[in-house]
Amino acid sequence: MEQNASETNSIRVGDLDFPPRKVWMKTYGCQMNYHDSERMLSHLEKLNFTATDDQGEADLVLFNTCAIRDLANQKFYSHLGETKPLIQKKDVIVAAAGCIAQTEGKDLIKKYKQLNFAFGTDVIDNIGEMVYRAYAGDKPFSVTTWDRSENYSIETKITHGSPQAFVNIIKGCDKFCSYCIVPFTRGREKSRRLDEVVKDVKRLVEFSGIQEVTLLGQNVNSYGKDNGESLAQLLGELDKIEGLELVRYTTSHPYDVSDELVAAHGTLKKLANHLHLPVQSGSNTVLQRMLREYSVEHYLGLIEKMRQANPQMVITSDIIAGFPNETEEEHQATLELLKKAKFDFVYAYAYSARKGTKAARGEDVLTDDIRGRRLREVMDVQEDVQAEVRKGMEGKTYRMLVVEKGSFKGETKWTGRTSCNRLVHFTPSDETDYLWHWVDVEVLTTTAFSCQGKLVADFGKNNGRA
Ligand code: 5AD
Ligand code: SF4
Repeated sequence: MEQNASETNSIRVGDLDFPPRKVWMKTYGCQMNYHDSERMLSHLEKLNFTATDDQGEADLVLFNTCAIRDLANQKFYSHLGETKPLIQKKDVIVAAAGCIAQTEGKDLIKKYKQLNFAFGTDVIDNIGEMVYRAYAGDKPFSVTTWDRSENYSIETKITHGSPQAFVNIIKGCDKFCSYCIVPFTRGREKSRRLDEVVKDVKRLVEFSGIQEVTLLGQNVNSYGKDNGESLAQLLGELDKIEGLELVRYTTSHPYDVSDELVAAHGTLKKLANHLHLPVQSGSNTVLQRMLREYSVEHYLGLIEKMRQANPQMVITSDIIAGFPNETEEEHQATLELLKKAKFDFVYAYAYSARKGTKAARGEDVLTDDIRGRRLREVMDVQEDVQAEVRKGMEGKTYRMLVVEKGSFKGETKWTGRTSCNRLVHFTPSDETDYLWHWVDVEVLTTTAFSCQGKLVADFGKNNGRA
């Protein structure tokens, strides 16, 4: 698309003028979706859009949807319904992106008259053309095609001013866990080349002041398989980048945790002391029905190896409570696993049947009540484990990046995120603006859900580098 700035602050693109406009975006779901939203915003900025938090002043209303559980779906449908009065008042373009749009795009357009277009997860880089079509007066349309090119090649786009960036390194998922919709909404696995990622991160560090990166993928530790490369290799290369302080990655599958990856956690200086490794269930029979391809014993062995390689290692996980036909005994096995694994945090969900997945096809004897009770039991057991794990932090000192200023009972509190992914709060003794400073904090008190510390050292914005 050709672009020329005109005197009216409008941008001329093809046959249309794009005056300054506002986009209101609502993102549901995982970090991948949030990162996609940021990418879409960066494309929209080229069409003269700026973001707004006020839906009332929006010219473009964009939903980036999530299909992982029914709750996320319901939220989107109800928010979409609420846009009706808005479009009656003024000329607004409404669009839906993301995982629901990928599988339901055509139906959404038919059913919701306020929608101008819907598009899937593999065409977000074409959002400019789609917005253009909408302003050119095209009838409502949907685009849910897959990118068929051999390579997954992109450049990370950031629109924020923070020193943290997400970097997509692999898209899609080939695992087809029996409960999961992701392989249908995100397509097959495709990795970026290692050289490209390293160049991308170097550029972010050098030109955008990025100091912390989180490598993203639905199945991030499957990275590179298609190209004879690996996540451990990539982490080794990123470790050498001067100016980069911390590297995280998420989300991993236990099946793809290699010995090299375990070793990397013991040797690499910049790799975070944290691994999010969803276990889903503590019962081998449930894991088999989930098609997870590992046993509880294998999983526990893996996290033991990680902790041996790096004694600072903190492990978090995901649990699905009430998988179809889960017996009481199988559920109890999950509670036992939580006590053994000593996770630092667990995202626990009640199983939610997703149309098209294997698990949703058969019969299921469990009721919502049973699922709800099991979910509560998982959370209760984990809360006790977590309180104990967090107690172990007391008296220890952690390096962290300050990410937020808040207030608690009228007192200023700064919050930072440690390498092991814990949030620690501290009360300042002076007026310094600590945002994006690297600091050391000593943890004084903890509960299952919060850690309070005191500032021990302040290294400033670049961790002491000029
Ligand atoms: N029901 C409940 N939880 C699910 N997850 C994925 N699919 C479902 C489902 N159908 C959970 C898994 C996964 C996390 C991102 O969402 O725990 O790790
Ligand atoms: Fe879903 Fe399993 Fe793929 Fe994770 S690994 S995205 S749970 S299919």
